[in-house]
Amino acid sequence: MDVEKVRKSFPLLNKKIDGKPPIYLDSACVTLMPQQVMDAMNDYYINMGSCGARSVHRLGVDVTRKCEEVREKIRRFLNAEDRNEIIFAKNSTEAINLVANSLTFENNDTVITTDREHNSNQVVWQNFRRSGNIKHHQTRSKKDDTFDLEGFKELCTRNVKLVSVYHTSNLDGHTLPIKDITEIAHENGAMVMLDAAQSAGHKEIDVKMLDVDLLCFSFHKMLGPSLGVLYGRSDVLESLSPFIVGGGTVTKVENEAIEFEKPPRKFEGGLQNYAGIIGGGAAIDYIENLGRQKISVYENALRGYVSKRLGDIHGISSIGVNKDGQGGGIYNFNIEGMNPHDVALYLDSSANIMVRSGMHCLHSWYNKKKIDGSVRASFYLYNTMDEAKIFAEKIEELLKVMC
Ligand SMILES: Cc1ncc(COP(=O)(O)O)c(C=O)c1O
Repeated sequence: MDVEKVRKSFPLLNKKIDGKPPIYLDSACVTLMPQQVMDAMNDYYINMGSCGARSVHRLGVDVTRKCEEVREKIRRFLNAEDRNEIIFAKNSTEAINLVANSLTFENNDTVITTDREHNSNQVVWQNFRRSGNIKHHQTRSKKDDTFDLEGFKELCTRNVKLVSVYHTSNLDGHTLPIKDITEIAHENGAMVMLDAAQSAGHKEIDVKMLDVDLLCFSFHKMLGPSLGVLYGRSDVLESLSPFIVGGGTVTKVENEAIEFEKPPRKFEGGLQNYAGIIGGGAAIDYIENLGRQKISVYENALRGYVSKRLGDIHGISSIGVNKDGQGGGIYNFNIEGMNPHDVALYLDSSANIMVRSGMHCLHSWYNKKKIDGSVRASFYLYNTMDEAKIFAEKIEELLKVMC
């Protein structure tokens, strides 16, 4: 991958802060945006500006056509069967909430998640459990924090309605064996929803091959604007009741009667984020031009370098699954005796290195492990080996000062 050429597309990487370019290692939270995505969004404001799926004038027709082209692009990106299986949402969190509120749960219906879910795929089910609508069980990870398939098999019984799990973890970049999970879930009559927020911009996703029923991801974690996507197989979407309803979701409204549109429209209430949708399409183009396989190998190499160099140093403990070749671009760690926020502030002030510190929206995992938080560096396609080296040097330097 020609990273220097890649970096030229990212205005923020060509900007200086205190005389130096930023070293951005917080892509698991939000990725930076290439000029091509900004241009695509500007094109909407400059040349279309109006609303989609409603107005019959030429500008409105252009918006509808562009947005449907993006829907088709996402279909191909996920290898879904039909573009009407693609629904636009605010983000992954909203997509998961949409599913939770659109499914019909009866007493004793159970939802299974793992014990390492992002709050977005944790809090929603806990909240439902509190209201008495569902049972919510979590799989227990093995001692090394990897997924326990045998344990899952025991937990996944006939009462399970939905298995909702992450694809790649925002804690440590570890990826679950989804094909095995869907096989077991389907044998027991359960549906599977995949939270692909951390995988969509990093690895090939084939919803047919993985055999998932539902899936969500966020464009802002893959070079795009703030926008989410929910995929649902046609028959599954047909069976769901809409959650956010209003303009655009109905074919007929009388005081005593409503008829809802077919998917995806019945789930897309109100005017949409048209510029965001068009920008999302440009983000897919950018990623596909580079190739997800190449991106994955590249970010693994950067992360691998850092975890190897810092891995054996006394005083540094890595967080979560720590296996060679796994972890994508995420390196999560703690320095003994140091508050993670202090480490993050030191990296920022001393070398323009932007990392994330805290519990990374995985509060239940951190609380169970009795860890107050950690520092997460997440590498992506625009980071360089030189940046990985500067990051590792800064951590070594800090350790020396502390000892
Ligand atoms: C694994 C995972 N799931 C869900 C989310 C929530 O994504 P969003 O904030 O776009 O809704 C995140 C965000 O970091 C995530 O990492």
